[in-house]
Amino acid sequence: MAVASIRRSRAGKGNQKLQVRSIALRNLLFLSLVASLTLAQSNASAEGDAEAGKAKSATCTACHGVDGNSVNPEWPKIAGQHASYTVLQLQAYKDGKRQNALMMPMAMGLSDADMQDLAAYYASQQTTPGMADPELVATGERVYRGGNPSRGVPACIACHGPAGKGNPLTMYPKLAGQHAVYTYLQLKAYADQVRKSDKNQMMRNIADRMSDSDMRAVASYIEGLR
Ligand code: HEC
Ligand code: HEC
Repeated sequence: MAVASIRRSRAGKGNQKLQVRSIALRNLLFLSLVASLTLAQSNASAEGDAEAGKAKSATCTACHGVDGNSVNPEWPKIAGQHASYTVLQLQAYKDGKRQNALMMPMAMGLSDADMQDLAAYYASQQTTPGMADPELVATGERVYRGGNPSRGVPACIACHGPAGKGNPLTMYPKLAGQHAVYTYLQLKAYADQVRKSDKNQMMRNIADRMSDSDMRAVASYIEGLR
């Protein structure tokens, strides 16, 4: 459109030039209207409603507890997790990037708004603190803070932070206080290429290089982080 209008106005006639300019102006106004509408929409959808999420969480409580702190260590605590990451995972179950027989049917029926509301509700809850196994904590801390250079495993601290708080802007999940059993199972799932929700295979590449004993130790250390 822009190219065509320049060519035509170079061709000369004054009237034509004016007409072309007003078309270009109209297009510009239309485009900026679309842009501002899109912006308003994405702002509205970025934040869920925690109250509405609480009302929608009834089916989740059976496994994740009333406040998002599960009792069974194979089921993750989702209380206190960054909303952006929770939405991402619910979408991953819905579109099959993350496969799990219990969670896929749960996510299937959720709309985008449901996911955002649920994520906002769980983000507003507190993670119950956990405990590390005293026998594993030294190895776990070494891996968490320093990685395992001989195997090319980077330090977890680089993305998940010194206290395991993660980063909502980069979608690095909070890990602190999570059940060690669940964390270990996720590291295995990444290593076995079963969990494919990680962008650019970020966690698959890391877990793939970890030894089983390092996975167990770091999972235990993470449970003790707060
Ligand atoms: C029948 C038990 C069950 C129910 C009910 C259930 N979940 Fe889950 N949920 C699980 C299990 C098990 C996992 C871990 C699955 C895996 O390994 O990927 C999980 C994982 C998750 C995760 C990923 C957590 C993370 O740290 O990556 C989120 C988010 C989640 N569930 C939210 C929900 C929500 C929201 C509901 C209600 C709409 C719900 N779940 C209902 C069992 C359940
Ligand atoms: C380069 C950044 C980066 C590094 C380094 C990193 N992680 Fe992650 N981690 C991520 C991202 C991004 C995700 C979310 C991926 C997804 O959506 O599946 C994640 C997810 C996880 C999860 C899943 C959490 C859940 O609730 O299901 C675990 C467990 C985990 N990381 C443990 C570790 C451990 C242990 C280390 C160190 C050995 C480590 N990470 C190093 C970026 C990183």
